[in-house]
Amino acid sequence: MIDITNATWRSNRFGGSERKRTLIYDGNTYMVKFPDPVRSTKKTSLSYINNQFSEHIGCSIFRHLGIPAQETFLATCIDPMNKMEKIVVACKLFCQNGEGNLVEFSKFLLNDTDSTSRRTTTVEDVMDVLDHSPLRLDREKIKDYFWDMFVVDAFIGNGDRHLDNWGLIEMTDGTLSPAPIYDCGSSLSPLKSDNEKAYLLENGTAFKREEYNLNSVYRMNNERVLYHEIFKNPPEDLHRAIQRIVPRIKTASAQIDRLIDSTEGLSDISKEYMKKSLLLRRELILLPALKKCNRRDESRGFAR
Ligand SMILES: Nc1ncnc2c1ncn2[C@@H]1O[C@H](COP(=O)(O)OP(=O)(O)O)[C@@H](O)[C@H]1O
Ligand SMILES: [Mg+2]
Repeated sequence: MIDITNATWRSNRFGGSERKRTLIYDGNTYMVKFPDPVRSTKKTSLSYINNQFSEHIGCSIFRHLGIPAQETFLATCIDPMNKMEKIVVACKLFCQNGEGNLVEFSKFLLNDTDSTSRRTTTVEDVMDVLDHSPLRLDREKIKDYFWDMFVVDAFIGNGDRHLDNWGLIEMTDGTLSPAPIYDCGSSLSPLKSDNEKAYLLENGTAFKREEYNLNSVYRMNNERVLYHEIFKNPPEDLHRAIQRIVPRIKTASAQIDRLIDSTEGLSDISKEYMKKSLLLRRELILLPALKKCNRRDESRGFAR
């Protein structure tokens, strides 16, 4: 793993929750995320959240599935604040040559000039904003993107794809298209210590409780969406996304396992835990959903 302590640094330009710095490396600009100190309300015995690995592996999984995501690399760096060596993740900025600007989806909700109630993180509001936007966007393409991302987030157990954690790229002519995926830092169990993981790997019931019962960040029909519930009876757009993405997940599984195994700095317990949790969600949530969607199409007489 390379050490970037003495690389060229610039001041941080980004918001969000984690601690960040800007890096110039090999002629490109990166946002470097340092491990986030755990705030007391979070349920973990870790003192730092292991979200660098989640970010790096989560984004790589999206790319393996053919969905553009930011490029990342892991590196070591001596934290200037406390002189301790940390593993950090460098995220290459997209649009760094001025060829467009990221607009987080939350900003489109603020564009809404005629809403009586405040918009929230609901599937209905996302779809409503897309349906009524006066901007130059391909609604169907962006809806497909939203649902494709939703399927992969279910796979990687991401409970934090809120409206600042995805967005669109606005080009100078005003056209908008899906931005590469970024912020996968809350996927793949970043809050669990290796001790907890070792225990859960030995205890199937507790493991399933932790890794199967995951919430998405969205609400729909006034209820928080649990991934495994919505996949049992998916709305039409999710149904199509399942049929587009789950076959790719099936094909890429061995490659994804190899990617995890080859990740430097990640403990063997964490590697085993990640692979097993992905396997569980693939086998118990995604593949049964794909079967059901295909059967549903057959019963409607759709030729696929
Ligand atoms: N690769 C990137 N290129 C350009 N902007 C980015 C990139 N990644 C993140 N951002 C912007 O920086 C903000 C913070 O990054 P994010 O990864 O969401 O950090 P956090 O984990 O702290 O929420 C995002 O909301 C987005 O606006
Ligand atoms: Mg974020």
